[in-house]
Amino acid sequence: MRLDKYLCESSYFTRALAKKAIKSGAVTCDGVIVKDAGFKVLDKHKICYDGDELNPVGERFLMLNKPADTVCATIDDMHPTVIDLLDIEKPEALHIAGRLDIDTTGLVLITTDGQWSHRITSPKKDCGKTYLVTVADPLDDALIATFEQGVALRNEDGLTKPAQLEIIDSYHAKLTITEGKYHQVKRMFAAVGNKVVALHRHSVGSIELDADLEPGEWRYLTEEEIQSV
Ligand code: URA
Repeated sequence: MRLDKYLCESSYFTRALAKKAIKSGAVTCDGVIVKDAGFKVLDKHKICYDGDELNPVGERFLMLNKPADTVCATIDDMHPTVIDLLDIEKPEALHIAGRLDIDTTGLVLITTDGQWSHRITSPKKDCGKTYLVTVADPLDDALIATFEQGVALRNEDGLTKPAQLEIIDSYHAKLTITEGKYHQVKRMFAAVGNKVVALHRHSVGSIELDADLEPGEWRYLTEEEIQSV
C-alpha cells in the first residue's frame, strides 16, 4: 500500500494532510524519514508519525441493532443517524449495507468494504433479508402464494421477486425478500390491502441480529459472518 494511503487508513489524516505530513519529514519507515508519498509500505515495515507507530484500521464490518427514530444515513439535520451511534474511529469511512426506514428496527450492517455491501444489496445476488412484520388486519394463508408469485407495487413495472412468507399468528409474520426497493415490505402489504404497523429486520443472508445487542448497541462481525456473504 502507498505510504499516503497507509496514513489515511491509520489515523484521521485526509489524503492531502497525509501528503503534507510526509513532505514535512514527520513520517519514518523503520526509523528512516520517507518523503515520498508513493513509497510502498510492506507488512514488515514499522511506520511512525512524530515518533508514534501507526497501524492501519483495515476493512471494518459491524452489526447494529437499530432503534426506531434513527435514520440510516451518514448525516441528518433532524434525527440521529445510525453512524452517530457508533463510538468508532474514522466513521466517515463507513457506509450502510442496506438501509432501513426511520421507524424500522433491527439488523443494520455497516462496513468500509464496497464489494462486500454490493453482494448484500444487489438484487442479482439473491441475498435474503428477513423481517418480522406486524400488520393492522388479519393475515390470510393465501398471501403465502401471492408473495411467492410476486405482487405489483404502485408506480413500478413488473412484479416483486418471489418472497417467502411465514405466518406466525393473525397479525405477525416473517417475510424474506431478496430485493431492497424503496419501502418494499410496507408497499408489498399495501399492494394486498393490508398495512404494516411495525417492522423489524431479523437477518441478512445467514447473519442474524445478535440477541445480546440492545437497541442502539453494536458489535464487530465475526470472521465467519463476514465470510458468509
Ligand atoms: N421494507 C420497508 O418497507 N421498510 C424497511 O425499512 C425495510 C424494508
